[in-house]
Amino acid sequence: MNNMASILPLTLKDVSFQVTDKRLIKDINITLEANKSTIILGPNGAGKSLFLRLCHGLLQPTEGKVQWNTTNDHDPKFFQSMVFQRPVMLRRSAGANIEYALKLHDIPKEQREPIARDALKRMGLGRFYGHPARVLSFGEQQRLAIARAWALNPQVLFLDEPSASLDPAATHSIESAIEAIRDSGTKIIMTTHDLGQAKRLADEVLFLHRGRLLEYAPAKEFFDHPKNDLAQAFLKGELLWWKKKELSPGHMGST
Ligand SMILES: Nc1ncnc2c1ncn2[C@@H]1O[C@H](COP(=O)(O)OP(=O)(O)OP(=O)(O)O)[C@@H](O)[C@H]1O
Ligand SMILES: [Mg+2]
Repeated sequence: MNNMASILPLTLKDVSFQVTDKRLIKDINITLEANKSTIILGPNGAGKSLFLRLCHGLLQPTEGKVQWNTTNDHDPKFFQSMVFQRPVMLRRSAGANIEYALKLHDIPKEQREPIARDALKRMGLGRFYGHPARVLSFGEQQRLAIARAWALNPQVLFLDEPSASLDPAATHSIESAIEAIRDSGTKIIMTTHDLGQAKRLADEVLFLHRGRLLEYAPAKEFFDHPKNDLAQAFLKGELLWWKKKELSPGHMGST
């Protein structure tokens, strides 16, 4: 699928997302190019997961447009996959979970098993081909979700905190997989709360706060000299203080 015409760049024009009277995503304008890994940073509740869902087409913006570079009638969704923070597995084997995703992508039946076995092997899960997916540990299921996404060979891979609550070894194996997927030509768009991971993987950073895009910069520039004051506070781990500025200094002091 990587060989088809690119669906990138991805352009968001004046994108807002509102639920009842609350605007959760506010006026986002951005163009994301191929061949750059984009990491989305921001505190809890900033709108990072919503942003991924809007880009991937799981949510429709209430204002504005999400546009892919599609000139023909190819459905851009077909060239993307997404790994959710809490992986959802079908009640069948690890291999069959991948094969089902391949079926939905019209991969011929005889190719599915070899692709699934290969993807499992690449994630260090080769021995689990016939195991029920739901008995795998959380970390193993997270790797299985990445294997499933990888097997589809997408042009764009969305990952929502792919290594949250994993141990260092599992985190390392997930980062290596993301690097390998990136090196095969897939654009990575992901969120993480792990700043070390963001530094290792990002080519560029998008900083969200309360639904607004406050900074979009090359990774080195963002980490060395963030321009936005909230981004600076976030990197120093001080954003919580910022949010509590209405409290008196005495209130923040010793207990
Ligand atoms: N369907 C919804 N209805 C109402 N509010 C929602 C809905 N979905 C998300 N929100 C709110 O929108 C805000 C952004 O949510 P989102 O899940 O995108 O945050 P996030 O940046 O991914 O946070 P975290 O780091 O905790 O994962 C939150 O305040 C959340 O409560
Ligand atoms: Mg989230």
